[in-house]
Amino acid sequence: MSRSLSVPGIAYGGDYNPEQWPEEVWAEDVRLMREAGVTMVSVGIFSWALLEPSEGVYDFSRMDRVLDLLHANGIAADLATPTAAPPAWFFRAHPEALPVDHDGRTLSYGSRQTFCPSSPAYRAAALRIAGELARRYADHPAVVMWHVHNEYGCHNAECHCDTSAAAFRVWLRARYENLDALNDAWGTAFWSQWYYDWDEIIPPRSTGAVPNPTHRLDWRRFCSDALLSLYEAERGVLRKAAPAQPATTNFMVGHSFDALDYWRWAPELDIVSNDHYLRSTDPESQIDIALSGDLVRSLAGGRPWFLMEHSTGAVNWQPVNRAKNPRELRRNALAHVARGADGIAYFQWRAAKAGAEQWHSAMLPHAGTDSRIWQDVVALGADLKALAEVRGSTAAAEVAVVWDWDAKWALELPSQPSDQVRHLDLVRSWYEPLWRSGIAVDFVRPDADLSSYRLVLAPSLYLVDDESAANLTDFAARGGTLAVGFHSGAVDENCHVRLGGYPGAFREALGVRTDELFPLLPGEKADLTGGGTASLWTERVRLAGARAVTSYTSGPLPGVPAVTRHAYGTGTAWYVATLPDAGTLAALLDRVCAEAGVASVRVTPEGVEAVLRRGEAADYLFLVDHRGAGAEVPVAADAVELLTGEPLKGGTVTVPPGGVVVVREPR
Ligand code: GLA
Repeated sequence: MSRSLSVPGIAYGGDYNPEQWPEEVWAEDVRLMREAGVTMVSVGIFSWALLEPSEGVYDFSRMDRVLDLLHANGIAADLATPTAAPPAWFFRAHPEALPVDHDGRTLSYGSRQTFCPSSPAYRAAALRIAGELARRYADHPAVVMWHVHNEYGCHNAECHCDTSAAAFRVWLRARYENLDALNDAWGTAFWSQWYYDWDEIIPPRSTGAVPNPTHRLDWRRFCSDALLSLYEAERGVLRKAAPAQPATTNFMVGHSFDALDYWRWAPELDIVSNDHYLRSTDPESQIDIALSGDLVRSLAGGRPWFLMEHSTGAVNWQPVNRAKNPRELRRNALAHVARGADGIAYFQWRAAKAGAEQWHSAMLPHAGTDSRIWQDVVALGADLKALAEVRGSTAAAEVAVVWDWDAKWALELPSQPSDQVRHLDLVRSWYEPLWRSGIAVDFVRPDADLSSYRLVLAPSLYLVDDESAANLTDFAARGGTLAVGFHSGAVDENCHVRLGGYPGAFREALGVRTDELFPLLPGEKADLTGGGTASLWTERVRLAGARAVTSYTSGPLPGVPAVTRHAYGTGTAWYVATLPDAGTLAALLDRVCAEAGVASVRVTPEGVEAVLRRGEAADYLFLVDHRGAGAEVPVAADAVELLTGEPLKGGTVTVPPGGVVVVREPR
C-alpha cells in the first residue's frame, strides 16, 4: 500500500495543543488557521495524561471534539501517539521505568521523556494507548497521518539502569554470539577489562578514567536501536488497526542531536519528517538549514519530506533566544521547501501562557494577530498555496557527501589525538563552499551506490569498515573523483586502528602514507604554499604515488604536503590532510568540482542561494537572497515566477532584497 500524505499541495501547519486552552478558544483557533491557510496540524503529542486519566481508563471526548472541529473546518490532523510524556500515575505504578543517568542517579518524572527506553512496563503502556487511539480514530476523516511519539531520544537517549544493562547484553549477544568475539572486538585485554560472563557487562557508566571506546560505541549503537524498536512496535500497532494512514516520527537532524543512527531509522518511516531550529550563535544559519535539508532528503531516499517543526521566532532553550529578523521567517520556510520539504510546520500553533515552553514563539504569538509574526504566518500560507505544484518534485545532485553516525560517534569518543575535531564542523566546512557556489549535494552512507555521482566527498570518516572503504575507493578507481578529509579511514568498525600508517583504509587509493599525527593547538595556524593557512590538524604525509598540491611553510611540519592529488585507476583521489582556511578550502573544492565536471545549478551573486527541484515537466528554481541586496538572475525563456504568478518574459528574474523567488522553468 502506498502511504503518502493525502493533504494537497505543500501542507502547512504546526503542533496544535488545544488541551492547553479552554474550549471557547478553539473556535478562534480554527478560524485563524483558515485565515492563515493552515491545512494540517499535529495533535495530541503530549496528551497522554488527559487521554488516559488512570491506567486503562480512557477519555477521548476532548480529542473527539478537536478532530471533529478540525474536520468541519477542512483542516487535516497528524494524530500523535502521546507516548513521549507518560503521566505521573504511570511512574507511581512503575518507578522502575524511570531513567538512570550515567552517574547512577534516577531521574524523576515531572517533565517529558522521563522513561527508560528498555522498560517493559513503559513499552506495554505505550503500545496500549497507541492501540486505543488507532482503533478509535482509524476511520476518522480528519486523520491523515500518524505522528509516532515525539523526537525519540531527545531527553532520554541513554538510560543506564539495570533493565537497560540486561537489554544491552541481549543486543550484544545477537551481535557477537560469544564472549571471545566481544572481547576481541572491544580489545578487553587492555586494562584488564576481559569479560568471562555476559552478566559482567554493564552500560558505560561513569568511571574515573577513560571508558573502553568500543564498549561506548556499541552502547551508542544499542541505544539508537532500543528506541528504534519502540518506534517499530508502535508503528506495528498503528498499521494493524489503522493501515490507511502513513506513519512518521519527527527526526532532529541538525547541530544539537546525534543520538540516533537515522540511516537505520529512515527506511521504517512512510514519510520522513524533521524538526529544525536555528542556533542564535550561528551567523549563517541558512547554511545549516540547507545542510540539514539535504541530509533529511537523502535519508528519505531523495523523496520529499516534511518539516514537522521549526520556529516562527525565538525558541526558549538556548542561553539567549534570538527572534528572527524581518523576512527571515519566510526565507527559512521556503529554503526548507527548496531542499525538498513538501510540508512546513511549526512548533507550535498558539504560544503557551503556562508551562515549560511559555517563552517559545508560535504561529499565533502572545501578542495576538496584531503582530509581525502573525502577518508573516498568514503571508507564508499564501506563498505555500502558490507553490502547490512543486509538491512531489525531487532533486538531482552530482556530488555526494558521505555522512555516517557510527563514524561521528567514534570520532567524538574521548582520548582522541585532538578533542577539537568535530564531525559536523568538518562536514559543514566542506559543505559551505559548495552551498555558496550553488552546487547540489546529496548525503550518502559510506556503502551507498555511488554510480550516479561524479564527485564523492568524505570530509570526516574516521571509522569505516572494509566494504565501505572499498566502495569509496572503487568509485575513484572506476573513474570518479574522491576527496577525503584528514583522520579518515583510521579505524575499522570495532574502533581498531588500521595498522601500517594513516589514513589506514584510504592510504593506497590516496597514494600517501602518514607515519605521525601533529594536531594543532586551538588558535594555532600553519601557513600554506600559495598563501592560505591551515588550522586544527597536520600530519606527516609522505607521498606514495600522489602529488603535493599544497604544503606547509610553517608550523610543526614545514615542507610536508597538506593537500595531495593522486591519479588512481581511471579516476582521482584527493587527500585534504588539514583544515584549510575558508577561502583556501573553497578554491580547492572549486578546482575539484571543475576537474570532476560538476556544475552549479545556477550562477548567482554572492549570498543568493540557488536550489533546483525537478518536476516531471518543469524545474523549480528557488532563489533566496540572504545578503539583503537583491539580484537579477538569468532564467529560462517562458519561465513563470510562482509566488507572484508573473510570467518572466525578459529571461531574468528579480530577487527582491532579503526575498525569495520560485521560478518554474519548462524542461
Ligand atoms: C522540540 C519538541 C517540541 C518543542 C520544541 C521547542 O522540537 O519536539 O515539543 O519542545 O522542541 O523548540
